[in-house]
Amino acid sequence: MFPQVDPIPLPAPVWLFKVLEVLTTSLHFAAVQLLLGGLIVSAVWAFFGRGERRVAMRDAAGSVATRLPILMVYVINFGVPPLLFAQVLYGRAIYTSSVLIGAAWISVIFLLMLVYSLLYVMAARARRRQAWSWVALAALGVAGLIALIYASNMTLMIRPQVWVEMYRSNPWGLRLNGGDPTVWPRWLFMLAGGVGTCGAGLLLLCLVPTLTAAASTTLRTGAWRLLAGGVVAQVLCGCWVLAAQPAPVRDLLRQHVLYVACLVLWLVVAATLLTLALRGRRVATAPSWRWAGMHAGLAFLLIALATLVRGGIRDLTLLANGLDVWDRQVVSNWFVTSVFLVFFLAGLAVIGWLLTIVARARKMEERYG
Ligand code: HEM
Repeated sequence: MFPQVDPIPLPAPVWLFKVLEVLTTSLHFAAVQLLLGGLIVSAVWAFFGRGERRVAMRDAAGSVATRLPILMVYVINFGVPPLLFAQVLYGRAIYTSSVLIGAAWISVIFLLMLVYSLLYVMAARARRRQAWSWVALAALGVAGLIALIYASNMTLMIRPQVWVEMYRSNPWGLRLNGGDPTVWPRWLFMLAGGVGTCGAGLLLLCLVPTLTAAASTTLRTGAWRLLAGGVVAQVLCGCWVLAAQPAPVRDLLRQHVLYVACLVLWLVVAATLLTLALRGRRVATAPSWRWAGMHAGLAFLLIALATLVRGGIRDLTLLANGLDVWDRQVVSNWFVTSVFLVFFLAGLAVIGWLLTIVARARKMEERYG
């Protein structure tokens, strides 16, 4: 069913690769959700912000849109490490599924270039105060298609039972993972997460001093609404994702202490965020940086917990199909692994430092209306 395992042993224990995979995938998902949510909210605000009396809405939309090209850098760069770790751990499954949807998988490169270009066009038009909501909608459509292709591949890689038939019926890689009831709930889960995560991001954005007071208020009130609505929508989609899993996988999940604990904690964090958002809506002043940062931290924790459970679904489904991710030959090379970890941590520190510089850079007052 699965191709032969690569005879080269792993250079570090499986648990280390798994930790790194969950961490970098969570960072990738945070960036993806900010992008999807940012596109949704800026498109809506730019569209409804037309007219003389809606300058604040246009300013708020512009402040989001002009930051999305930078965010795209993080979407891509945080996507590369999990791709490498996933190939090391699940190569036999993910290479096969990638070949089976080959045409769509390769097209991601071109779709990415298209999204990137649209983001730049959108930001430039916002700065020139030209209409741009349609550009945001187009970018959202293409980014949503990329998300669908990823959801297709990540669900097909754990369905070895359909591979042969799929190849026989279409050896040109022109199909996606159709007929799998888990694809759409997973895709919607990411989109709903985008709304909530974007709410947490806007709470930080509304504190940027270059914004007009009115735009900042629009961002803040929108942030609380998006956070509350997004969390509720994501919990509903999360239930759908679980319900759509095959019964044996649901049973295995239920018996696994780690995943049950993650699910319970995920619900607790979601409920906390919802309560905070509903309370925040009633406060008329802007939150402090620390308070807004705490919401962003909770939103990231929500993503990390969901990523852990998502990994559990993958591991347990593969196990039920005969592939045990932990069953690998390991010949640890701690020198190489340590050098890698030093550079990895240094890279994360540099990213953090760059973000503080961007945040502190002096800019003119932002007006897009
Ligand atoms: C607009 C751009 C992108 C969007 C919207 C996007 C969206 C997504 C989504 C929705 C998933 C989860 C699919 C699922 O499991 O249901 C995902 C997973 C993933 N994405 Fe992205 N992605 C983008 C760009 C990239 C890029 C450029 C890379 C790599 C170079 C990448 C690497 C990955 C990897 C490796 C995973 C799976 C991680 C794992 O399970 O270990 N993504 N992406």
